[in-house]
Amino acid sequence: MKVISTIADLRAALKVERRTGRTIGLVPTMGYLHIGHLTLVRHSRKSCDVTVASIFVNPTQFGANEDLSTYPRDLERDLKLLEAEGVDYVFTPDVAEIYRPGAETIVETTHLSRILIGRIRPGHFRGVTTVVAKLFNIVQPDRAFFGEKDYQQLAIIRRMVADMDFPVEISGVPTVREEDGLACSSRNALLTPEDRQAAVVLSKALAAAEKQAAGGERSVAAIRKAMLKVLEAEPRGVIEAVDIRDADDLSKVAGKIARPVVVLLTVRFGKVRLIDQRVINTS
Ligand code: PAJ
Repeated sequence: MKVISTIADLRAALKVERRTGRTIGLVPTMGYLHIGHLTLVRHSRKSCDVTVASIFVNPTQFGANEDLSTYPRDLERDLKLLEAEGVDYVFTPDVAEIYRPGAETIVETTHLSRILIGRIRPGHFRGVTTVVAKLFNIVQPDRAFFGEKDYQQLAIIRRMVADMDFPVEISGVPTVREEDGLACSSRNALLTPEDRQAAVVLSKALAAAEKQAAGGERSVAAIRKAMLKVLEAEPRGVIEAVDIRDADDLSKVAGKIARPVVVLLTVRFGKVRLIDQRVINTS
């Protein structure tokens, strides 16, 4: 496994791989890796000849009052985990390598970035699309892998790739969970033990929504109510958003569900914001 921190060195190495006809898979991350990230790596290893993982805590996707400075980091441990997974290249640029003096160009989806989490975190998705567009240009992968856990992020990246004609195939990977159902997340490490236990309420609320739908319930209001009942029973969690949206384009769904929908949750425990999602098929 080669660890490379400059764009020039990575490009030179990948040029050789590409010349010999090998396909390249990219797994972008912000590090502090867990089994969710490693599952993306496994998907890439299975379908591409060469796997590149990037570790970059991207400052432009954090708001002024967000957790950039406290975002958990452990590069040494991350590299060991990636090496054990058989990753070929790890890209570990510093901030100055990615954002050079005078940089002013952004990439942004103008609608999708402003709804849902984009309302709670203005500017967040602009930072994500800008850095992911740069990673696509730097690595020029055949395929890139993203988790369904960050459902809106995945939808936004698919939109950006289609709109900007990036020659990359996007693969979405189902959410990997802890034993009790909590979606794996680097931020889980920031929870107090009490909040960690309480955080299971997100997946419980999603299961309640699924149960309602499986039992024939089609009313958006009724499904929402069933989820709120579960969430409100856990006083440690501050409910920030409960949304039921069209699973394809994240548009609002009113009245009755007729097509697949995605249920999106944002719940805060202390300063730690957790998100989770579940697609509900109605057929
Ligand atoms: P990060 O939060 O490190 O996540 C990296 C990738 O891992 C994302 O595609 C995310 O959806 C996926 N992932 C996280 N938890 C997962 C889980 N429990 N199951 C499956 N996949 C999971 O998302 C980012 O970084 C950044 O925004 C990034 C795309 C790297 C741009 O900076």
